[in-house]
Amino acid sequence: MSKHTSITEFLKQHLQGEHAISLNAMLSDVIDSCKKIAVAIDKGAIAGNMGSLVSENVQGEVQKALDVIADEIFITCNQQSGYVAGMLSEEIDDIIEIAETHKKNGQYILLFDPLDGSSNVNVNISVGTIFSILKSTNKNPTLADFLQPGTSQICAGYALYGTSAMLVLTTGNGVNGFTLDTDANEFYLTHPNMQIAVNTQEFAINMSNYRFWHEPVQRYIDECLQGAEGDRKKDFNMRWVASMVAEVHRILVRGGIFMYPIDTKTKNGQPSSGKLRLMYEANPMSFIVEQAGGAASTGLLRILEVQPSALHQRVPVMMGSKSEVDRLVAYHSRTRSSKS
Ligand code: AHG
Ligand code: MN
Ligand code: MN
Repeated sequence: MSKHTSITEFLKQHLQGEHAISLNAMLSDVIDSCKKIAVAIDKGAIAGNMGSLVSENVQGEVQKALDVIADEIFITCNQQSGYVAGMLSEEIDDIIEIAETHKKNGQYILLFDPLDGSSNVNVNISVGTIFSILKSTNKNPTLADFLQPGTSQICAGYALYGTSAMLVLTTGNGVNGFTLDTDANEFYLTHPNMQIAVNTQEFAINMSNYRFWHEPVQRYIDECLQGAEGDRKKDFNMRWVASMVAEVHRILVRGGIFMYPIDTKTKNGQPSSGKLRLMYEANPMSFIVEQAGGAASTGLLRILEVQPSALHQRVPVMMGSKSEVDRLVAYHSRTRSSKS
């Protein structure tokens, strides 16, 4: 018997209010999907799962990339509860409609990135799954039902497939982390009430984009790099896993700030609006970060208050220790007011 509380027991004890029954059922499906994805990741190359594209092996069998496998697992498992009325996946352009037979109680929308950091798969570095749950106004959700700001989320979480598999969750009442015991095939509460340190000396950003950033981000990073000899009067450390889930998890455990800012690169002739997607990357992670005492901003706006205008829209992301996010926001507002 584990001395830790199982996630099943924890949810039974802690879910309260109008969504308690439905969330319990939906989270049970999310938990199952994450366990199955963890197994697919563990098998890796042995199961022929490592490709970055859907391809055929020498026997002519279809080999699927892990992000396709993870997507299929998530879509299939999360129709079981009957509460999910519509889904949105990073891997699929349109809204995923749910068959009437699977919508017994369907009043919720599930948004997800089935495999975050998938460029890390072939090099055997941590990846994750991110999800967010919204309430729908009807059983056949329209685009407007999906385009709700992050403040409307009733639950968000991520699975990290790292040195151990973990599930980290919030339902708006703090953040709790659970570790998968692969013998028992159960997640156990190992990280209760996770809190982000207010101050930090660690930042995460893809430095190769430095020349494309706007001035406030360049200034922030310059000051970190100047360390004890500069205005910040302390040395900083840097990490970049290229997997947002791993990055945010590290920040929940030991503080820090994660940034994927807007840059001056263009894509298809369009100016960049950041890399990360609002609905299933930035919003759920911002909900978790805020619930753990941190902050999350685009530099100009609180991420959770951004009104979405498209399902797969991108936003600049700065999240983590509150004092560092506040500093970045101040640098952005100074630039804005000096221009006006
Ligand atoms: P995904 O694998 O779901 O497309 O997301 C990858 C994201 C994010 O997890 C990570 O922080 C970032 O892309 C890495 O970007 P770079 O390759 O530009 O470093
Ligand atoms: Mn992602
Ligand atoms: Mn992904």
